[in-house]
Amino acid sequence: MTVPFDGIALGCDYNPEQWPREVWPYDVELMRGAGVGFVTLGVFSWALLEPSPGRFDFDWFDEVLAVLHTGGIAVDMATATASPPPWLTTAHPEILPVDARGATLWPGGRQAWCPSSPVFRDHALRLVAEMARRYGDHPAVRLWHVSNELGCHNGRCYCDVSAAAFRVWLTDRYGSAEKLNDAWGTAFWSQHYGGFDEVLPPRLGTATPNPTQELDFARFCSDELLSHYRAERDVLRAHSAVPVTTNLMVTAHQSEQDNHRWGRELDVVAQDHYLDHRLADPHAEQSFASDLTRGVARGAPWLLMESAPSAVNWQPVNRAKRPGELLLDSLSYVARGADAVGFFQWRASRAGAEKFHSALVPHAGPDSAAYREVVGLGAALARIGEVAGSRVRADVAVLFDWECWWACDQPSHPSGELRYLDAPTRWHRAITGLGATADVVAPGTELRGYRLVVVPTLYLCSDATAAALAEYVRGGGHVLVTYFSGLVDESDHIRLGGYPGAFRELLGVRSEEFAPLLPGETVTLDDGSSADLWTESLAAPDAEVLARYVDGPLPGTPALTRRAVGAGAAWYVATRLDDAALSRLADRLTREAGVTRPEEPVVGVELVRRGRYLFVLNRGDAPAAVPAHGTELLSGGQVDGTVTVAAGAAAVIREGT
Ligand code: GLA
Repeated sequence: MTVPFDGIALGCDYNPEQWPREVWPYDVELMRGAGVGFVTLGVFSWALLEPSPGRFDFDWFDEVLAVLHTGGIAVDMATATASPPPWLTTAHPEILPVDARGATLWPGGRQAWCPSSPVFRDHALRLVAEMARRYGDHPAVRLWHVSNELGCHNGRCYCDVSAAAFRVWLTDRYGSAEKLNDAWGTAFWSQHYGGFDEVLPPRLGTATPNPTQELDFARFCSDELLSHYRAERDVLRAHSAVPVTTNLMVTAHQSEQDNHRWGRELDVVAQDHYLDHRLADPHAEQSFASDLTRGVARGAPWLLMESAPSAVNWQPVNRAKRPGELLLDSLSYVARGADAVGFFQWRASRAGAEKFHSALVPHAGPDSAAYREVVGLGAALARIGEVAGSRVRADVAVLFDWECWWACDQPSHPSGELRYLDAPTRWHRAITGLGATADVVAPGTELRGYRLVVVPTLYLCSDATAAALAEYVRGGGHVLVTYFSGLVDESDHIRLGGYPGAFRELLGVRSEEFAPLLPGETVTLDDGSSADLWTESLAAPDAEVLARYVDGPLPGTPALTRRAVGAGAAWYVATRLDDAALSRLADRLTREAGVTRPEEPVVGVELVRRGRYLFVLNRGDAPAAVPAHGTELLSGGQVDGTVTVAAGAAAVIREGT
């Protein structure tokens, strides 16, 4: 898996159909000046490439490609199937997606198609074949880009076609209605199925839906979109040797795809990421998403396909980047494994739903402060080109699982306040805040190389994952498990005999009952920590108790335990610690496990080691001094002992001589 562009490439979506022909050569000239190395072409071009059924118009597209190629700009070629043209939805309204209430989602926006529709797929694959035959060996085309953000708007469709496809998927998974009845626990609430023909998607109903039906439907929806990806990819491969990808959305908002499964199917993992200023700490989410994308790529370099040069246009208030932030934000992706930094889009649109979304060339034109930042970014990426291909080394793994997310966030659980993303993102933030590097990986990942593994709210967990963690600890590893972990198997069935089911033995603890806290309620631990959300009636028959509650529903009960196993240890934290206490515990764990990190954290500074390169991103208000030796690539200067990075600035140091 390598990113097929040169160095650390700067790139963007290019939508030339929104502009007159005369602008195209000028665009390419500007791109060259800014150091743009690749563009994504054709994402929403279907309606113009196939203006009526079976009539293709590639002339204008050939011209764009020729201009780009002459300018030396590489192309990430979209298959153009993301959004069906109006003639298709007019002729075949049955391809439109339907929501859980049975309402049709009409055209007029984008991506109005049902992932299970054979009619849509036939039309899409016909276009893909045309594209592949025409451009499959074009010298500018270095990468294929299937559809666009698959599942972004149409991830779950509940129509009758989807229902039939769901039944086929269930038949493959279970083989017989009896097995499905067992897995779905249909003895409860008179849900027993006499045959697959009685099964429906979990459409809006009267009461809490069957949780395993919901979970299987989420799995099915991810698989349906993946099958669409595979179908397009296979057509491309039949005509072209160019690698294939699609832009995933590995973020804290989108949970329609099991990206760990998807990652294995892409020739190179590509990710779209937009800072979310609705969050308390948007950059913490950025770092988490990047480290998780690297996990999806199984450690290989990945491609940031899209991000925003400044503001987006879909948040309640769309914050513009301040001077210098474009460089820092972009370098953060590179530090965490991106070999290219792409943006939506080249030129800010004059019309349409995204006209207020920032672009590399703003409405003001190239004579603007924003564009000068883009040119500065291009120059900076050119200076750090040698970083491409190097790998991030992390001593810490945080386990993250989409199936667990789908199961964990269902209704009718002990606390509706407990959301899956909370613990993984907070633990990641605490560990990286200490200056340590963390991978965010799938539960099945080989763990031997890590010094510390964090298992945050792994509510759903297979026997194999539990066994692998036990084996890892026996081999001298350190594991921290949080509350609400190991409770159910892959069918979302409770593991009986006491909580936390799968991890009871490893942790040497057992709970008989959960005692979640009401919103606003807090508890104090006898080590001075404060916590909220969760407590449980924990006993520690085979573990050392490190802290107990002094108040709340369970005074005197263990809240933090540690079971020593040879040179390794298994820790359990049974409550949600506040930020300060979480950071203290992360500090203690990383020291005990021998995790590489600075002796004292440098507050406000993002510190990441990628291969032999040390990235120092100073988001704080004061200059930061960090120990380092080597060459600073952005300035070309030598660093001998300490690098001092001004507030809002960055350094990338090739360590050693
Ligand atoms: C996504 C899409 C783009 C554009 C951007 C900005 O990344 O792929 O087409 O809509 O968001 O909102």
